[in-house]
Amino acid sequence: MWPGIISGYMDLLGFTERDLIVSLHEGNTPLYQASNLEKALGLKTRIYLKFEGLNPTGSFKDRGMTVAVSRAIREGTKGIICASTGNTAASAAAYAAKAGIPAFIVIPNDQIALGKLAQALAYGGEVLAVDGSFDYALELVRSLVVEDDRLALVNSVNPDRLLGQRTGAFEIVDVLGEAPDVLSIPVGNAGNISAYWDGFKQYKAAGIIEKLPALWGFQAEGAAPLVTGKAVMDPRTRATAIRIGRPASGEKALQATRESNGFVAAVSEEEIMTAWNELARLEGIFVEPASAASWAGVRKTLTSSRDIDSVVCILTGNGLKDQQYVLEQGLHQNVVTPEELEESIDSYLRRW
Ligand code: F0G
Repeated sequence: MWPGIISGYMDLLGFTERDLIVSLHEGNTPLYQASNLEKALGLKTRIYLKFEGLNPTGSFKDRGMTVAVSRAIREGTKGIICASTGNTAASAAAYAAKAGIPAFIVIPNDQIALGKLAQALAYGGEVLAVDGSFDYALELVRSLVVEDDRLALVNSVNPDRLLGQRTGAFEIVDVLGEAPDVLSIPVGNAGNISAYWDGFKQYKAAGIIEKLPALWGFQAEGAAPLVTGKAVMDPRTRATAIRIGRPASGEKALQATRESNGFVAAVSEEEIMTAWNELARLEGIFVEPASAASWAGVRKTLTSSRDIDSVVCILTGNGLKDQQYVLEQGLHQNVVTPEELEESIDSYLRRW
């Protein structure tokens, strides 16, 4: 049985058998080859999808949270606190529940997907909504922890979060035997892209791989400060997980993409929606809107003639967290109701 990322990568993460570990057996998520997408777009490049939505709370945040909470417990922390667009909230609340400490969660009011709020509440998180953006909420919690040493901040500005999230890169190499040519990833607060880069570099330094991937980061057009070079005071996108105007790890992420010969670019709402649809309908993978940004960016950047052999798209979160999006796409209208069905289901199926 997979024991979780700390036990699975103990040496690489600097833990020992004696350390107390708070884990929900996160990580070891599947890496699928997207043969239907390759065919549909006529690509010669191999496309892989790493589905992080299959982590215990449905997003990649669990990789970082197990390390951050384990360390917090070791250091005698009494509670954890974070700002969140939803997934960090769900993850923090779950790992705090397992550790037996409270999680205080500050969210932008009315701006997070209902499924994520439901998770945070179900795990017993103490949810505090503020009038303002995620960026404001993060500023607030950062100032609160300075004044209160009983609390550990578990946003991705916490180095333990980034340390744990490196394991996504380790797992890709463990499966493929090498790094892909390109790693594509949605970018919000810009922690995860930096963590992947650190992970690949750590494997290279250990002699496990020779080449590093190019990092392609994608932000939503209405929340793309790393693309425009300017903070966005009123970020807008239906991909609420990455509705962030002042990414805390922005500089680190830009440096990583430059070092890797990659880039950060923007994808439109329509491009995100098309990608989201294709992932579900051609590959059977239901992701939340923000997660589709990685495939959205790849499908518009890659051409059939490009000399890129392999791409891994990180699909950061599970579609079940944001069911409202399905309704907004009008998909509920595809349900044939008993009133509309003028024949028996039997004869309906026979016509097919
Ligand atoms: N995808 C999903 C599903 C996310 O929840 C996030 C971030 C990202 C991508 C972007 O990752 O911030 O490391 O660049 N969600 C945070 C949260 C901000 O509060 O759950 P990043």
